Amino acid sequence: MYRNNLTRKEIERALAERSPEDEGLLRSLQSCDRRHFLRVSLKFAGMAAAAGIFQPHGFQLVNVAHAEAAPGEPPDIAFRFAYVSDTHLYARGMSHRFAKAALKSVEDVNALDPQPDFVFFGGDLAQRCRPDELELGRQILAELKAPLRMIPGEHDWYFDLGQKWREMFGPDRYAFDHKGVHFVAINSIIEKDFWTAKGYTPAERMDIVAGLDDGRQSRFEVGAEQRAWLKQHLATVDRKTPLIVFSHSPLYKLYRPWNFWTDDAEQVQAILQPFERVTVIHGHTHQVLTNRIGNIDFHGLLSTAWPWPYAPQGLPEYTVQMRRSDPFDQLDGCGDGRVDVHTNGRVDKHYHFWSRNPRVVTAEEMASNTIPGPRGYDGPSY
Ligand SMILES: [Fe+2]
Ligand SMILES: [Fe+2]
Repeated sequence: MYRNNLTRKEIERALAERSPEDEGLLRSLQSCDRRHFLRVSLKFAGMAAAAGIFQPHGFQLVNVAHAEAAPGEPPDIAFRFAYVSDTHLYARGMSHRFAKAALKSVEDVNALDPQPDFVFFGGDLAQRCRPDELELGRQILAELKAPLRMIPGEHDWYFDLGQKWREMFGPDRYAFDHKGVHFVAINSIIEKDFWTAKGYTPAERMDIVAGLDDGRQSRFEVGAEQRAWLKQHLATVDRKTPLIVFSHSPLYKLYRPWNFWTDDAEQVQAILQPFERVTVIHGHTHQVLTNRIGNIDFHGLLSTAWPWPYAPQGLPEYTVQMRRSDPFDQLDGCGDGRVDVHTNGRVDKHYHFWSRNPRVVTAEEMASNTIPGPRGYDGPSY
C-alpha cells in the first residue's frame, strides 16, 4: 500500500518541504478524528517507506534473518501472524499518546509484506474498561488489513464483567484450526468475587483490579468451568497436532503480588501436557518474557503503552532480560511483533521494539535449550 510513482528524490523533497496543505494536515492532528488521523499519518509514513528513507524498525529483521530466501517466506515457515497487545486506551481522543501508539502498531502491521495471516490482540485494549475506551480501541483495530483475533485482559473486563467486550468482540474463549495448527483462546483473567461482600461499585472493582498490586483483589484463574471446557474440547484434537494457546496472563506462576500469575496454572498445564507441541502466547506482562515448563513454551508480548519492569523474583531462566527502558523515551520498551510458525509447529517469536533493536527468540533456541547472550543484556541498541 506504500508504493507509489514518486521518485526517491521527489519524496525526500516532499518530506523536507511540506506543502501548506500538508502542514495544515499535520497541525490538525491535535484534534482530528480517527479516519483523518490515519489518512495523515499513513500518508507520511507511506511516503517515507516507499522511498526507503526508513522502515518500521523491527521489520528490517525480515530481510536480515532470511536474506538467502526468496522474497517472502523461508521454506520452513508455514505461516506467520502478527501481534499487538496491551494498548491500555483512555478515551481521550486520537492525540493521547496511547492512542497514537496503538495507531503506530496498526501502521506497522499493515506495512508487513507479505501480510500476516491474522493479527492476535493479547488483551488490555482499554485502561478502565469504559465503553468509550473499548470503542476507541475497536475503531483503531478496525483499520488492520488482516483478520483480527481478540482476547480480553483484566482492564477490558472488571467494570461490567465483560459485557461490552463480548458485545463488541464475541466469545472470550474459542478455538480454530489454521494450516495444521490448532489454536485455542481462553479467558485467563477470571477472579473470584471479591467485590459483592465488600459492596464495591463497578468503578471501584475495576480500579482495584487495574491496581495490579492491589491486594484487595483475587488472583487470576482460568476457572473450573473453563478448564472443563478446555479439557472436553481438546479431547477431540489429535495430540500430534501442534497447539498454540492464547491467554492474557501467563499460564504459569511468575510473581503473585503483581498478578503475573494464573492461580490454576498447574491444572491448565496438565490439560495441555499430553500434546506433543504446545506454545502459549500471552499478554499482560509488557516485556520480553520466555519460559518453558515440560513441553510447553511460553512467550510474552510487548505492550504498545508501557513496559513493566521485571518482577523482583520468579523470572524464568529462559528469559533474556530487557535492559531497563529509558524513562525519557516514551516508546522505549514498547512495540509489537509477529510469530512465525514453522511447519513442525514450533515458533519464532519476534519482538519488534520501537526504540531498540529487535529481538527474536527462535524455535531452534527453545528446542535446544540454549538461550544466547548473557542474562541482563538484550543486545546493542540505538
Ligand atoms: Fe496490560
Ligand atoms: Fe493485564
